Amino acid sequence: MTPPKPRSRPDKVSLRRYVKLFREDILSAQPARLYRAWMAEFKTPFFRSYLINQPDLVKTVLKDRPLDFPKSGRISEGLRPLLGDSVFLTNGALWQKQRRIIDPAFEGGRLRETYPAMWEAAQAALARLSARTGEVVEIEEQTSHAAADIIFRTLFSIPIEDALAQKVFHEFRAYQRTQPILNLAAFLPLPPWMPRFFRADTKAAAKRIRGLITELTERRRAEIAAGRAPDDLATNIMTTRDPETGERFSTEEMVDQVAIFFLAGHETSASALAWALYLVATHPEWQERLAEEAQALGDAPDFADISKLKLSRDVFREALRLYPPVPMMVRETTCPERFRDRDLPKGAQVVLSPWHQHRHERLWDNPDGFDPARWGTENGRQCMREAYMPFSAGPRVCTGAGFAMVEGVLMLSLILRDLKLTALPDKVPEPVAFLTVRARDGIHLAVDRR
Ligand code: HEM
Repeated sequence: MTPPKPRSRPDKVSLRRYVKLFREDILSAQPARLYRAWMAEFKTPFFRSYLINQPDLVKTVLKDRPLDFPKSGRISEGLRPLLGDSVFLTNGALWQKQRRIIDPAFEGGRLRETYPAMWEAAQAALARLSARTGEVVEIEEQTSHAAADIIFRTLFSIPIEDALAQKVFHEFRAYQRTQPILNLAAFLPLPPWMPRFFRADTKAAAKRIRGLITELTERRRAEIAAGRAPDDLATNIMTTRDPETGERFSTEEMVDQVAIFFLAGHETSASALAWALYLVATHPEWQERLAEEAQALGDAPDFADISKLKLSRDVFREALRLYPPVPMMVRETTCPERFRDRDLPKGAQVVLSPWHQHRHERLWDNPDGFDPARWGTENGRQCMREAYMPFSAGPRVCTGAGFAMVEGVLMLSLILRDLKLTALPDKVPEPVAFLTVRARDGIHLAVDRR
C-alpha cells in the first residue's frame, strides 16, 4: 500500500484561492509539479519566494554559504513571543555564541549520559500503551506524551507526572492549537510593513509558558549554586562557558533555549514516531522483522545496543523521509543571487522543502513508496547524501538530530517488541502541516499484545 500523500492543487489558481488553500494546509496548497521541478518561483504583489529542490543549490544555501542566507525574519516574528532570542531564531554572532554553548551538551559522549533518562521514558510510554491492549488508540497523543516526557527527564530530570511539567505540557498543547504553522508568514502575500497580528490567546499562552519555564530554570540555578543540581542537559548547558568569551547563559537566555528545546524537540519527535508506527502497522512484514530484531536484543538494551537496531533505524529514516516533521524551511537572500539562470533580488525568500525533495521524482526510485531497504541501494545511498534533510544540514543542522535518532529508534523498537499494531482500513490518516506534519484527524491503530 502506498502511504498517504496529500492531494496537490491544480497548477494555476488565483492568489486569493492560493491564500485560502494555504491557510488550510501548506502541503496540499502546492502544485504537483514541485515534485519534479528543480526550482519554482512564487510571485506575490509584495515579495518573491523561490522553492529550490536542486541538490547543489540546497547545498549552496545550507552548507557552502549559510551566512549569506540567514533565517527569514518573516518566520521569526510569529514565534518571537514564545521563543524570544532562542537559537532557532537568531542569526550571526549571537547564534554562533549560542551554538558554542549548546552543542557540547548534545555530542556523542553526552548522549550516552542522557540515555538512562530516555530509557525510563520509553519504558513508561510502553507501559501506558500496554495498558490499552485490545483497544483502538489515537497514536499521536501517545507519542506526544512520550516525547514530552523524554524532554523533561533529559533536560530537568523530572518525569511528565511532575506538577510543573504537566502545566508546561498542557500550556504547549493549548499554544499549538492557537498558532498557525511555522512557515505561514513567509509565504503570505502581506507587505513587510503591515503589522502582524498575533491572536490574543497565542500571546497569553506564550507568556504563561515562559513563566513556567522561568520557574524551572531559576530553581535549577539555585540548585547549581548550592552544589546539588542533577547531572542533566539543563545543568550541563547552564554551567558551560562560551569557549571564546567565557560567558554563560543568563536565566533569561536559558529560558529562550529551554522553550525551543521543548518545542523543537517534542513536536517533531512525536510526529516522526507516530508516522513510523503507522507505516509498520500498514506493512506487517516490516513490523514482524522489527519485532524479531527487538526481541533478539533482550529486555534492557543499553546505549551501545541502539546501533544494533539496524532495521528499526532504516524504518525510522524512511518515516522521516516520507513525513519529514519539519516540511519546509525558509531563508532570505542578503544580496542579489543567480540560481538556474534566474535573478533573485536581495530580500527574496528561499524555501527549502524536505517534503518535496524527499519525494522528488527525478531523484528517488519509488519516491512515494515505503521501502526501508532502499538505504542499502545505490540510489538510496546517493539520495541520503544529496537529497535527504529531515534535520536540515550544514552549520544550522538540528542540534537534537543525534538525540532524536536514538530516541526514535529505541521507542519504535521497544513498542514493537511487546505490541502488535494494526491499521484500520476506514481510517487512513491525511497528512497536513500544522506546526509539524501531522494527521488531520489523528492516527488510529488497534493495539494488541504480541
Ligand atoms: C525527529 C525529530 C526532529 C526533527 C525532524 C528535527 C528537525 C529540525 C530541523 C529541520 C531543524 C532546522 C530548522 C530550520 O533551519 O528552519 C531543526 C532545528 C533545531 N532543532 Fe530539531 N528536530 C528534531 C528533534 C529535535 C530535538 C530532540 C531537539 C532538542 C532536544 C531539537 C532541537 C533543535 C534546535 C535547538 C534547532 C535550532 C538549531 C539552529 O537553528 O541552530 N530538535 N530541527
